[in-house]
Amino acid sequence: MKQYIKTDEWNIIEEGFHPEDQLLSESIFSIGNGHMGQRANFEEQYSGESLQGSYMAGVYYTDKTKVGWWKNGYPEYFAKVLNAANWIGINVIIDGETLDLAKCEVKEFRRVLNMKDGYLQRTLIARLSGQKEIRIDAKRFVSMAVKEAGLIRYSVTPLNFDGECLITPYLDGDIKNTDSNYDEKFWEEIYKENSVDGAALTVKTRKLDFHAGSLMKYDILQGGKKIQCSTEPVEKDKYVGCNISLRLKQSEETVLYKYVINVTSRDKARDELIPYGRTRLEEISQKGFDAMLQEHSAAWHKKWKESDIVIEGDLSAQQAIRFNIFQLNQTYTGEDARLNIGPKGFTGEKYGGSTYWDTEAYCLPFYLSTADQKISRNLLIYRYKQLEKARENAAKLGFSKGALYPMVTMNGEECHNEWEITFEEIHRNGAIAYAVYNYVNYTGDWDYLKEYGLKVLLELSRFWEERVNFSESKNSYVILGVTGPNEYENNVNNNWYTNRIASWTLEYTLEVISWMKEKDYPAYKNLEDKSGLRETEISKWMDIIKRMYYPVDEERNIFLQQDGYLDKEQCLVKELKKENLPLNQHWSWDRILRSCFIKQADVLQGLYFLQDKYDLDTLRRNFNFYEPRTVHESSLSPCIHAILAAKLKDKDKAYEMYLKTARLDLDNYNNDTEDGCHITSMAGTWMSVVEGFGGMRVVKEKLHFDPIIPDTWKSFSFKIKFRESLLKVTITKAKVAIKNENGNAVTLSVYGNDYSLDKEIVILVQ
Ligand code: BGC
Repeated sequence: MKQYIKTDEWNIIEEGFHPEDQLLSESIFSIGNGHMGQRANFEEQYSGESLQGSYMAGVYYTDKTKVGWWKNGYPEYFAKVLNAANWIGINVIIDGETLDLAKCEVKEFRRVLNMKDGYLQRTLIARLSGQKEIRIDAKRFVSMAVKEAGLIRYSVTPLNFDGECLITPYLDGDIKNTDSNYDEKFWEEIYKENSVDGAALTVKTRKLDFHAGSLMKYDILQGGKKIQCSTEPVEKDKYVGCNISLRLKQSEETVLYKYVINVTSRDKARDELIPYGRTRLEEISQKGFDAMLQEHSAAWHKKWKESDIVIEGDLSAQQAIRFNIFQLNQTYTGEDARLNIGPKGFTGEKYGGSTYWDTEAYCLPFYLSTADQKISRNLLIYRYKQLEKARENAAKLGFSKGALYPMVTMNGEECHNEWEITFEEIHRNGAIAYAVYNYVNYTGDWDYLKEYGLKVLLELSRFWEERVNFSESKNSYVILGVTGPNEYENNVNNNWYTNRIASWTLEYTLEVISWMKEKDYPAYKNLEDKSGLRETEISKWMDIIKRMYYPVDEERNIFLQQDGYLDKEQCLVKELKKENLPLNQHWSWDRILRSCFIKQADVLQGLYFLQDKYDLDTLRRNFNFYEPRTVHESSLSPCIHAILAAKLKDKDKAYEMYLKTARLDLDNYNNDTEDGCHITSMAGTWMSVVEGFGGMRVVKEKLHFDPIIPDTWKSFSFKIKFRESLLKVTITKAKVAIKNENGNAVTLSVYGNDYSLDKEIVILVQ
């Protein structure tokens, strides 16, 4: 754990220069707009430790799978979002000396991520040789209003001297990914050009032929006025820049505005990239930095209006929740159904920027409640579009029908190559089915269910039908050889969660079929014809539901994580010596697999999803057994426990778990944020507040709240969009107030009592 970020309501602040934490800060201070993202690398040259990261959403590379022992069914490649052209670069040479913070004395340094307005700012004073001091002020953002636009205001002020300055804004496509298998370079140059006040560069990926065009324009101001200066183009392989020679005067600020457009062949034809980019560049540079920033901030203010959470009485919790919301909003904006949410978003290379079950299990609720419906719908359409590939994936593994969605994917093809995950972590299919249910239950979008959702459900159910087998000795259906959500167990039989989510998928599919038969018989008939659905399949599914095997321990009256779990030596996390934790950094894999310790919610994940089906006593017994054995070594773990603990009214546990999830990156809890922030678990943090402390649930399409408030908080409030309404829920120790901000009446339940909410209701807490 590391606490060097200053607490503040709306800003993430680093004061003083921390080169030892540069990688960490580069992740935390990342900016993005759904179309592209940028780690907080410095604009000027930096020879210290740094992970260059400029990412264009959806532009990836098929890095060859390399394993020791090839197993049939392995994917050919591992997809990774590429580190794209460095568009932020600005080199600065003062009187012949290159500004490099790793090589000079940094006297003052302050870096601020302004979350309200959505920009990153850095101010510093550097002492160069000969005691020359300069102040740098750098501000940048990637626009929420014009998705291809990145803008930088970079200024240099000599504090105690007059001197010569050579400043070079550039675009550099000569870069590679740090985690590439073979140190391979992924980009080739296609085109470059240079003019008096700008440059352009197009590069293409060596495989898949993605083209990415970056164009820049710049203005220089001295004494507040635009000046013409002598410039000289610089061209290298995959690199264009411009040397600008300037005379600096003591105390006078010289400002460089760098306007950039980044556009890719995902959005425009290859031969249009540069012409299109030029037009956009002209528009943004004409508008100017300040006006563009204003437009961008206005877009952020709108987002905050609909998704902010206010916590009174706990500044650190306030900062943390806003940081999580900020990162989620800048990772996925939902306009493009071909995109999804990588576990690290745009903040690092780890996990390749690919899609995991994280999206359906953890991210969907955030976007459902805080953004337009079409945004969460697009997340589901993403999987619908990949249904054919998921069927191919199942066929590749030997199934005669059904769909197995990949554990990790970019375009629908599996690209994860550890057998215990690729082949065994099949519970991901359950999360996808659950997301269909969750979305429809929340929005009432039956059209989606008819048109897309049911088609997905049918194929998922067909997969489960074939994946179970009937055990004569148990006289039940079993599911053998799986990995549950708890990845610290592999190849187990009858993981309770997997069995339960499989049979729930069948139940839900049958429910939707009946509903469709009743409501729109012609549409149902059409689906039946197209999908070849037969009565025999339906009766098989009913039989599986009836005779599925669920491991239990009768003595403790709990569900068993898997067959034989209790044969393991039982001990609790609190009995472990501190130096063993985290286990994944201290124990051999073999020792982890033999132990009873649990990486993340497993049985409890099922009790979270299927809350309506289990009573509080069942939840309590299972929670009390499993939580003490859980090491929470997946960032996805604490949030589920926070929600369930809140449901059990265990405030202390809920708060302890909340802190673990909320400040995971800001305090580098798991000691791995330098690789990137844990974006998908940030949605879990949001869930911990809204579903945990707020006790929000949608049961049979009706909203329910059952709030509790942590002792240290004075109040908290959150906004949610539900159907046509925008609701503001405020909870204090004495009362719960719910305001309907756009007036459509909503029926809801608070602490088990029903209310019709027209404008506002206030309920006193007993
Ligand atoms: C977790 C998975 C998760 C993945 C990406 C792993 O550590 O165990 O459940 O999908 O990280 O976030």
